[in-house]
Amino acid sequence: MNVATTQVGGLLHRDHMATVETLEGLELLLRKNRKPPAFDPTLTAWLADLAARLRREVAEHFDFEETRLFPLFLAVGQTGIVEILGQEHQTILPLAQQVAALAEAATASGRFEPAGWDAFRALGGELIEREMFHIQKEEMGLLAGIAALLDPDQDRRLAEAFAALRG
Ligand SMILES: [Fe+2]
Ligand SMILES: [Fe+2]
Repeated sequence: MNVATTQVGGLLHRDHMATVETLEGLELLLRKNRKPPAFDPTLTAWLADLAARLRREVAEHFDFEETRLFPLFLAVGQTGIVEILGQEHQTILPLAQQVAALAEAATASGRFEPAGWDAFRALGGELIEREMFHIQKEEMGLLAGIAALLDPDQDRRLAEAFAALRG
């Protein structure tokens, strides 16, 4: 099923693609730098943006899915998908917050200490792996699922609510 068959699915899909792009950028940075990279204004701005994007992803996006979409699946007895995706959120959320916090600390001090860089690499690598897999799963299951559950009115209201989160 085409994810664009619902408005809210289309918005979530767009968010997912933006997150994939962020994670691919992180992967590139980690792959290119076994040792702490030298700071320049581009890296500083990129890390600040990374932290903001990660925090937004786990705060607004996860919260929207949990509070507005998961109940729709539970209401029709589809508990399996909610359990799996909800557990993944609980694993990914602290990881994303830790990676964001390390990026913010490095941005504030203008460098990565070797231990901080090692932690950033390890946690960042785990975050990439888990969140990419999570997004793939949602793209296959969640978006098609909501297309089957929503009527056009509900879809419009949810799309408006999601768009409002983004100001
Ligand atoms: Fe999710
Ligand atoms: Fe999602």
